[in-house]
Amino acid sequence: MNEQVQGAGDPLFNPLAPDFIRNPYPHYDRLRTIDPIHVTPFGQFVASRHADVSLVMRDKRFGKDFVERTTRRYGPDIMKEPVFRSMGNWMLQADPPDHTRLRGLVVKAFTARRVEDMRPRIQEIVDQTIDAVKDRGHMDLIEDFAFRLPVTIICDMLGIPEDHREVFYKSSRDGGRLLDPVPMTPEEIARGNAANAMAQMYFQPLFELRRRNPGDDLITQLVQAEEDGNKLTNEELTANIILLFGAGHETTVNLIGNGLLALHRNPDQLALLKARPDLITNAIEEFLRYDSSVQMTGRVTLEEIDDLGGKRIPKGESVLCLLGSANHDPAVYPDHPDRLDISRPNVRPLSFGGGIHFCLGAQLARIEAEIAIATLLRRLPDLRIDAVENPAWRPTFVLRGLKHLPASW
Ligand code: HEM
Repeated sequence: MNEQVQGAGDPLFNPLAPDFIRNPYPHYDRLRTIDPIHVTPFGQFVASRHADVSLVMRDKRFGKDFVERTTRRYGPDIMKEPVFRSMGNWMLQADPPDHTRLRGLVVKAFTARRVEDMRPRIQEIVDQTIDAVKDRGHMDLIEDFAFRLPVTIICDMLGIPEDHREVFYKSSRDGGRLLDPVPMTPEEIARGNAANAMAQMYFQPLFELRRRNPGDDLITQLVQAEEDGNKLTNEELTANIILLFGAGHETTVNLIGNGLLALHRNPDQLALLKARPDLITNAIEEFLRYDSSVQMTGRVTLEEIDDLGGKRIPKGESVLCLLGSANHDPAVYPDHPDRLDISRPNVRPLSFGGGIHFCLGAQLARIEAEIAIATLLRRLPDLRIDAVENPAWRPTFVLRGLKHLPASW
């Protein structure tokens, strides 16, 4: 179905085509070389060079303008759809001053110091996960390994009781479609509404519980802000909890999955990391650069832009920032950008975005991936990935990750 929507004849940027999903990097090379500010059949401006992507994310002439841009794309009734109303309340889609207010309510839980303190808990979860499969001799690195850690950590942070969590471990990972820059079909919107209703049904009673029984967690913090008067509405509360839950796990699962795949496709780098575990911090930056689990973010022009990469952009237009392409731009990475090199100097991937929306969970994701990958290499040193050349990718573009990654040892 998505391919039908896609079939609008855009040979340069067709991000849900199977060939693009399998390997977007040759497509990015063409965009950067032939048409670095490309206009899609949907009228979006696609920035693929590092300099332009970086500027758009940081420059105040670009914002989110979610309601206006969504109404333009889907028509005036779209904001009546619950899933779009909910997204409209995400800090990720908000402009100042709402963005500043919403982000300010949770930012303290994500400081580098708070996240460093979580190391022992992260190590414990990774060790338990490996203990549970060690004697089996095989596992799916996505479902059995990468998935459990970020879900457990975000449940800990939100204060989701232990005995409620099984449903989250089993939940589908279909929400990513909301972020893709290709309009959703009515069926997809209906599925989004249903998932949103389920989340509302689960979270409202939990908010009630935390009002009565406060804990040391983010939901308690936010329900207290809501009760405090004009800091947060009930809709904003629910929407941002859903955002934190989603942003906090899918992306990190995929960082771990894509990183492990990249390492096993490059045995020299795998051997190097095993021999020099001290390279892990740089290796994580290189995994983020080499095959980012988030491939794109976007902005809207809040005023007319005279010149972006040689093009004039009117006010109110969407600009798509291709993070994965910026991360492979030879202008910034002259030494074979398409090669995995865990000891590459000066790796500063744009995978966490930039400017006021810079990913809130960046440091948390880095530490989770670092502990997960380092522990796996140490505890299962002879692990091999079964289908290293032809793995099954999930069909979404913005969130790039694998369906499964079977491995044995
Ligand atoms: C590898 C893992 C991750 C990647 C690649 C990633 C990437 C991103 C990107 C690209 C953005 C948008 C930035 C922009 O538009 O400039 C973002 C925003 C955000 N991320 Fe992450 N993320 C990851 C993990 C996490 C985690 C673990 C959490 C929370 C537990 C999280 C929470 C958020 C939130 C709340 C925002 C919105 C921030 C704002 O609008 O101010 N992310 N992330």
